[in-house]
Amino acid sequence: MKTYDDLEGDGGSNIVEQVVQLGGKLRSRLDKIKYKVALMSGKGGVGKSSITANVASCLADRGKRVGILDADLNGPSIGHLLGVGNDAQLKMKDGGVDPGIGHQGIRIMSMDMLLKTADAPVMWTEAADATAVWVSTMESTAIRELLADTNWGELDYLLIDMPPGSDRIDNIRALIPELAGVVEITIPSPLSQHIVAKSITKNNKMGVPVIGLIENMATYICPHCEKEGRLFAGENIRELTEKKAIPYIGKIPFDTRMSQTGRAAGNLFYAAFKNSATGKAIAETVDNIENFLTK
Ligand SMILES: Nc1ncnc2c1ncn2[C@@H]1O[C@H](COP(=O)(O)OP(=O)(O)O)[C@@H](O)[C@H]1O
Ligand SMILES: [Mg+2]
Repeated sequence: MKTYDDLEGDGGSNIVEQVVQLGGKLRSRLDKIKYKVALMSGKGGVGKSSITANVASCLADRGKRVGILDADLNGPSIGHLLGVGNDAQLKMKDGGVDPGIGHQGIRIMSMDMLLKTADAPVMWTEAADATAVWVSTMESTAIRELLADTNWGELDYLLIDMPPGSDRIDNIRALIPELAGVVEITIPSPLSQHIVAKSITKNNKMGVPVIGLIENMATYICPHCEKEGRLFAGENIRELTEKKAIPYIGKIPFDTRMSQTGRAAGNLFYAAFKNSATGKAIAETVDNIENFLTK
């Protein structure tokens, strides 16, 4: 067997050129996008996808050109929220695939759009006796391809809806070193706070710019009497942001209509209810994100 030292050039495999080409393709796509922002939480089910979709809706409402990369390969939700099903016909052009066009013209790319049926799972482990390293490499490769093979075009914002877990951001940063920042999302429950705190610590340590923390499901607004009450015990989110020295950028109430909008309803919650308390809270959060990025 040859080692790298025995090879002249790349040994005829042309691998160096292939890697350079791949990198060039990714770069040329990313260079047309002004701000790349990842929305994450260590925790699942706290509203990452819903907030990503509604932040996108608010930005689009302000005339911004927005795309969303659904980086949650195993639990993709962005297509569903933006009204793009896996029956969408993918069109190849310029060596890439056109993104799906969701509500308000938001451009999206999601694993969901590549699967044959709506209930097909992504089976990383089907073919081989997969190790964790192999699965992680596969995920990273898939995300690189979703990023580099999509004709995003000129965008003001690319929002990245992250899967749960605090380690995935490493892959994204490797692919997008100029990442403008991450938005962390938590609900007020002590467990969620505990997990998101780890994620913030990690980002701070790694020098990932943290735009701030959103408190989702902070309160509950009664649809009958509009009175506001608490959903969870634990009111220490501001304390958590102070301790971690990051901005507190949004306090978003629970609104039952949030889960009823999306694909079936033909629009996003923000677009339909921007004057509700939750709609206004989303707009304030977007003000904070935009201020952070443009300051
Ligand atoms: N502010 C909110 N008000 C009402 N429902 C919400 C709110 N935020 C999230 N949800 C609901 O909570 C569930 C989980 O949200 P989701 O965005 O899928 O979380 P994640 O992406 O973090 O797993 C969904 O059913 C969603 O509709
Ligand atoms: Mg999600």
